[in-house]
Amino acid sequence: MILLSAIVLTIHAQGKKPLPKLGKNSLKEVVDAMTLEEKAKLVVGMGFKMPGMPPPEKGKKPQSIDIGGFKLPPSDPEAYDVPEKVPGTAGRTHAIPRLGIPSITVSDGPAGLRIDPTRPNDKRTYYATAFPVATLLASSWDTALVKKVGVAFGNEIREYGVDVILGPGLNIHRNPLGGRNFEYYSEDPLIAGSMTAAIVNGIQSQGVGTSIKHFAANNQETNRNSINTIISERALREIYLKGFEIAVKASQPWTVMSSYNKINGTYTSERRDLQTDILKREWGLKGFVMTDWFGGHDPVAQMRAGNDLLMPGNPDQSAAIVAAVKDSTLTMAQLDANVTRVLKIILKSPTFKGYKYSDKPNLKGHAQVSRMAAAEGMVLLKNESSVLPLAKGTRIALFGNTSYSLIAGGTGSGDVHKAYTVMLSQGLANAGFKVQAELAKSYAGYLADAKKKQPKSRNFFMAPPPIPEFNVDTLVSKEAEGADAAIITIGRNAGEGADRKVENDFTLSDVEKGLINGVANAFHAKGKKVVVVLNIGGVIEVASWRDSVDGILLAWQPGLEGGNAIADVLSGKVNPSGKLASTFPVAYEDVPSAKNFPGKEFPMPDGQKPNPMVGRPSEVVYQEGIYVGYRYYDSFKIKPAYEFGYGLSYTNFKISDVKVSSPDFKNNISVKVTVKNTGKVGGKEVVQLYLSAPTQTIDKPEQELKAFAKTGLLAPGQSQFIVFTLKAGDLASFYTDKSAWVADAGEYKVKIGSSSRAIAKTVSFKLAKDIVTEKTHKSLTPQVAIDEMINK
Ligand code: BGC
Repeated sequence: MILLSAIVLTIHAQGKKPLPKLGKNSLKEVVDAMTLEEKAKLVVGMGFKMPGMPPPEKGKKPQSIDIGGFKLPPSDPEAYDVPEKVPGTAGRTHAIPRLGIPSITVSDGPAGLRIDPTRPNDKRTYYATAFPVATLLASSWDTALVKKVGVAFGNEIREYGVDVILGPGLNIHRNPLGGRNFEYYSEDPLIAGSMTAAIVNGIQSQGVGTSIKHFAANNQETNRNSINTIISERALREIYLKGFEIAVKASQPWTVMSSYNKINGTYTSERRDLQTDILKREWGLKGFVMTDWFGGHDPVAQMRAGNDLLMPGNPDQSAAIVAAVKDSTLTMAQLDANVTRVLKIILKSPTFKGYKYSDKPNLKGHAQVSRMAAAEGMVLLKNESSVLPLAKGTRIALFGNTSYSLIAGGTGSGDVHKAYTVMLSQGLANAGFKVQAELAKSYAGYLADAKKKQPKSRNFFMAPPPIPEFNVDTLVSKEAEGADAAIITIGRNAGEGADRKVENDFTLSDVEKGLINGVANAFHAKGKKVVVVLNIGGVIEVASWRDSVDGILLAWQPGLEGGNAIADVLSGKVNPSGKLASTFPVAYEDVPSAKNFPGKEFPMPDGQKPNPMVGRPSEVVYQEGIYVGYRYYDSFKIKPAYEFGYGLSYTNFKISDVKVSSPDFKNNISVKVTVKNTGKVGGKEVVQLYLSAPTQTIDKPEQELKAFAKTGLLAPGQSQFIVFTLKAGDLASFYTDKSAWVADAGEYKVKIGSSSRAIAKTVSFKLAKDIVTEKTHKSLTPQVAIDEMINK
């Protein structure tokens, strides 16, 4: 044996057998040629270069870094020593040049490429397009549109030299306070999964990869690195995993990012049932899984779970992996499997293919895509006596700080270094409106002054606190005299690292309510109208103030062309066709998870101080089970302020001729629908299919969205014919005791409507016998009993 290895070594040394090279030889040959140390390096990223932090001292063991109270583990000196391919990205893998393995670059984030906009000794700029946030894209209910955004986005990623974008995010809007809800799509997994698949297909059509995140049940930021998320298997399968399942099957993302939280006692990145049994075996993910940055705890457990790559990575993790293989706590076969998955994606990467990127993406073209998508995803919530659209030339008194300081997108890794943001004041002027100049000047002066006084951000993640609303008490009556109408923008911002608060965030502050009332009273007294624009990333309270105004446009955080896109809708250039992908409740107390968000904290172990990076020991119990969003409001008969699927248009539509293909379900069933534009201007309608399933042994939601379609632009009088097809899987619920998806025998009601509560027609069909549509692995079992909500 010893003799044999000596011979093999000699042959290598004499160069008789050339080393295998990635792409030239089989993956197996390449993996076989890697040393254990090389393997352990490949599955651990090259470290993280924290912006503004000095490199670790040469020759000394790298120390952990404290940034504003956040303790980061020691970084890999190579992160500083090896020049970055693209400055400002979030991470890289290690190169192994002797085997032809290059380093690939991964970069945030969901709403645009996050790279440094300027580089030392370089006069050029590298700004990226801020696309509208995910919540807005989801509100378009238009997968073709979202795919188009993906194509532009993917092209930009490729032309800036990046291999994999760290997005999209598709965690569920479990609670309106979720700090990262703007990065996620919806309270509903079908919407979340369909939007994800659409954008992934768009991005990946450009030859670059995605990382769908954060897998899974990462629905809050409070204690995000320590929170133990206690959820039933059924709620996981039906709500929190479903979107990922849809996206993996329909778009094969190159990578998946595991989340920071624990599920039922174990970090998600250390759960083999989640990362291997479910994601890879049941759903067939071909790519690899990477951790979130510094996520999880035990690198060896992560490897064993099939979390293939640890990010951003540090040498201690590689050392632990080497030691684990040596002492047999990690098998070489598992390490090889992880290495192989990483190599498969490297093989597809533009870097491996030697793609000559231009560094000159078509930013102008992409800005147009961003503007178009933004207008398509805005939701018209209220339009009393057709206050909107506003006629060209209308003299508008524009109130609210964010009218002049529009929020294009949220903060943290979801933020984008964009060249500009079009303010609403600018967008309105561009669209031919007359923005009242004196008021605009007063706001500009106030904001310039306030920005100088604004405290700096507390750390990398946190945006500075918002600037208090400008007090316009002395200006309002003059404006009501001189202007034709008033627009008030209400803005909200949030991002990773913290959840939002109920007071003055979910709810409007007294000052904001005062602003709305003051303006409304003064303008209404003169017979003039008032419109509110909501420049927000997540759901807020509207019920207490909406009666005071005539129109409300939910503009979300619309990306860098925001002001123009809002003006497109306000002017009627674009007829709004967005629909809510998350419910607006009347009050926070109505939210099904209100009592269980963000969970409870436990005392720190003796003598230890909480590390803000990790958080405090804590747990959250998802007591509402599957009753998330409309599944709850509809089942428990709670009236929301604006329901799931709701959104107005400047025209009207009629849904008719709803027919089911057969009274009995065989292998599938189709439902035909005709939609007609019965109004006076062109527009698009979203037709929604909700299913009420029969209950045999387990309770079920009143109804669930099972299909949707957006019409083309229908001229007045024009109709479109739509066909929906339901498969057996669409009828099924998850039975925990059977670890299976089962469609129960009985009568199914199909409700076709333009929102979850505006049902135009109900038809039905029967299923003669139960069908087990899928058997699954028994996984993710809670270790404690959950007192789950039940719909009796
Ligand atoms: C975020 C991820 C992000 C990563 C890299 C983490 O803090 O949770 O979403 O992709 O950082 O920047």
